[in-house]
Amino acid sequence: MKTLTHLGTRMPALGLGTWQLAGSTCARVVRGALDLGYRHIDTAQAYGNEAEVGAAIAESGVDREQLFLTTKLWMDRLARADVLRSAEESLRRLRTDWLDLLLIHWPNPRVPLAETLEAMAELREAGKLRHIGVSNFPVALLQQAVEEVGAEIFCDQVEYHPLLSQRPVLDYLRPRGMPLVAYSPLAHGKVLTHPEVRRIASKHGATPAQVSLAWLLGQDGVAAIPKASGMEHLRDNLAALDLDLDPADRAALDKLQGHTRTVAPSWAPNWDT
Ligand SMILES: NC(=O)c1ccc[n+]([C@@H]2O[C@H](COP(=O)([O-])OP(=O)(O)OC[C@H]3O[C@@H](n4cnc5c(N)ncnc54)[C@H](OP(=O)(O)O)[C@@H]3O)[C@@H](O)[C@H]2O)c1
Repeated sequence: MKTLTHLGTRMPALGLGTWQLAGSTCARVVRGALDLGYRHIDTAQAYGNEAEVGAAIAESGVDREQLFLTTKLWMDRLARADVLRSAEESLRRLRTDWLDLLLIHWPNPRVPLAETLEAMAELREAGKLRHIGVSNFPVALLQQAVEEVGAEIFCDQVEYHPLLSQRPVLDYLRPRGMPLVAYSPLAHGKVLTHPEVRRIASKHGATPAQVSLAWLLGQDGVAAIPKASGMEHLRDNLAALDLDLDPADRAALDKLQGHTRTVAPSWAPNWDT
């Protein structure tokens, strides 16, 4: 499995996203993914499925040290006491002693960023998490976290796929060795019907999902966490690691880069693109 290394930790470049996976389906999919060899699982307090993710991991028998597990603090839990309490609750639900990565799910201008990051650092010092990260942070907020607060940020998790440019965020992260974790790497399904993506897929005897993922995973410092609900899609996505796009394919996909966002809630920050 391809990995990205930052701050001494290897993160598998392909992970499983679990948004909108619930109950026994979630447990079945996470278990299936682990059986297939996925070793990077992405969940969040807001997904309401940490207990199912934790149960599937426990039942899989996978060595905890071999797994990269991420969860996210919801926006109403960014004050110090809420960070400390809710992270403990996540650990209990996930049945683990530590998180590999704890993210701020969305920025919340009502809570000072330094307060949240300092509380997360306390958890890291106590061994409850290995790394602190952010999600949905445009460059101005990344600068605030890294340069003003001085936090050691592992990565930024943002929406990224062939239809959405993340050029400014990548330009900030890359020189610092910080990975960009691409969420909604299939644009929540939207890239799958794009004629150019389909043309490149048929040229390689691959699927459109594999083309989108191979385009992401072939980029320096980019990981991707597609969500899937069954074994067929889980296998398909894993096999994207073996798809080599040629420079002409990459150039054609680069040209699609635009402003198509599939996740645009009212509380989103001012994006760079
Ligand atoms: N930090 C954030 O704010 C944030 C926001 C959004 C998402 N995320 C994370 O990113 C993960 C992925 O994003 P997402 O769930 O929005 O969307 P996505 O991964 O871009 O797309 C998921 C959709 O693609 C389908 N799919 C998956 N593999 C496929 C394949 N090989 N062929 C055809 N269709 C395929 C899935 O269908 P089936 O379900 O039927 O397999 C589902 O409908 C989330 O689960 C979550 O962990 C984070």
